[in-house]
Amino acid sequence: MWSSRWLFVLAAAGSAVGLGNIWKFPYITGENGGGAFVLIYLACVALIGVPIMMAEVLIGREGRQSPINTMRLMVQQHRASPAWVLIGWMGVLAGFLILSYYTVVAGWALNYIWQMASGRFVDVSGPEAGAIFDTFLASPWQLLFWHTLFMMATIYIVARGVLKGLEAAIRWFMPLLFVLLFVLVGYAVTTDGFAQGFEFMFAFHWEDVTANTVLIALGQAFFTLSLGMGAIMAYGAYVPSNASIAGTVGIIALLDTLVAIGAGLAIFPIVFANGLEPGQGPGLMFVTIPLAFGQMPLGVLFGTVFFVLVSFAAITSAISLSEPALAYLVEEYNAKRARVAVSFGVLSWFLGIGSVLSFNAWADLHFLGERTFFDTVDHISQNVMLPLGGMLIALFAGWVLPRTVVGAQLGLQRAWTNVLWKILCGVLAPLGVLAVFAGSLLG
Ligand code: PHE
Repeated sequence: MWSSRWLFVLAAAGSAVGLGNIWKFPYITGENGGGAFVLIYLACVALIGVPIMMAEVLIGREGRQSPINTMRLMVQQHRASPAWVLIGWMGVLAGFLILSYYTVVAGWALNYIWQMASGRFVDVSGPEAGAIFDTFLASPWQLLFWHTLFMMATIYIVARGVLKGLEAAIRWFMPLLFVLLFVLVGYAVTTDGFAQGFEFMFAFHWEDVTANTVLIALGQAFFTLSLGMGAIMAYGAYVPSNASIAGTVGIIALLDTLVAIGAGLAIFPIVFANGLEPGQGPGLMFVTIPLAFGQMPLGVLFGTVFFVLVSFAAITSAISLSEPALAYLVEEYNAKRARVAVSFGVLSWFLGIGSVLSFNAWADLHFLGERTFFDTVDHISQNVMLPLGGMLIALFAGWVLPRTVVGAQLGLQRAWTNVLWKILCGVLAPLGVLAVFAGSLLG
C-alpha cells in the first residue's frame, strides 16, 4: 500500500507527466493547427479522461491485484462475461508497444543533457539548432545507443521494484520541473513571438477541425493521463481505502494539464520569434528549447538541468508502462521480478529498433498509410488501443459493477451523485470515444 494518498498522487502524476506533455503535446498541437486542437484536447481530458481515470482507480482499488487478475476477480464476483478480462490483456500489449518507442524519444532527451552541458547550443540560430537535431537523428547508431541506455535504466529501476525509492526523487524533481517550465514560459513572454505563440495555441478556428483532429486530441488525452491500459489501475491497487478518488484524480489531471500547457507556452513563442515551423513534427521540442536556453544567461546550466528533469519525467512514465505486465507475471507465475523485467524490456527494446530506424534508414518505408514504423506503432497504441481500452473500462465501471461497489469506492452518498456518475462514466465517456472512432472511420 502507498504510505499515503499523497504518495499515490506523486506516483500517478509521475506516470502521467512525461514525454506526452513536454514533447508530444506541443508537436501534435503544431501539426494540427493549434487553438482548435488545444480546446478539443482540454474537453477530452475533462469530460472523458477524468471519469475514466476515476474508473481505473476504483476498479484497481476494488481488486487490489494486477489489472488482469483484478478483472478476473471482478468478472467472477459479479458474474460478468470473461471477455472483460481482455481489458487487462490489451493494456499489457499497449504498454509494451508504447514503451518500445517511448524509450527511443527519452533517449533523445538523455543525449540532450550531454549536448546542453557541452555548450553546443550557446547562441546558435534556429536553422543551426535544427541541423544539430537532424544530424543526430540521421545516425541510427547514436539513436540506438541512447535508446539502449534509457531502456537499461528503466529495466534496472523496475527490476528492483523501487517504486518507493522513487518517492524522494519524484518529490524533488516534479516541483523542480514546474519551476523550470515557469522560467521558460517567463522567457518566452519576453520574446517577440509571444503574442503569435499565444494566439496560435488559443485562437479557435472551426475550419481547422476534422474528424482526425478530434481522434488525435482524444488519443493524446488518453496518452497524457496514462489511461486505457491499466497503468493507473495497477497503481490504484495500492491506494489506501480512505482516500477520495475524485479529489485525487482531479489533482493529477490538473497537474498534468498544467505541464502540457506550460510546455506549449514555452515552445510556441520561441517557434515564432525564430521563424521556425510549428508543424515540424517530433523534433519541435529538441530544436526550440535548446535554442531558448542558448540565448539565456546561465542557459548551459538551466538547459542541462531541464533535460535531466525531462529524462526523469520520462522514466517515471516508462516504469508505469511496464507495471501491468510485470505485476501480472510476478503474481501469476510467482516469477522473479528482475527476470520478467529483463525479458519484457529486452523484447520491447527490440521492437524499438524499428522506431530508431524510422528516422533514418527506414524513413521512406511506409506502413499504415503514409506512416513510418514509429508513427504506425504510435498511432495504433495511442489513437486506437488506449481509447478502446478506456471505453471498455468506462462501460465496465458504469454498467457491470454494482452500484453498491461503485458507491462505496467513490463515496457517492446521494442519489444524484450516483446518477451523475452513470451519465458521465456509463454513457458520455464511452459515447464520446465511440463517436470519435466512428467519425474518423467515416473520414
Ligand atoms: N502519460 C505518459 C506521458 O505523458 C505516457 C504513458 C502513457 C504512461 C500510458 C503510461 C501509460 O508521457
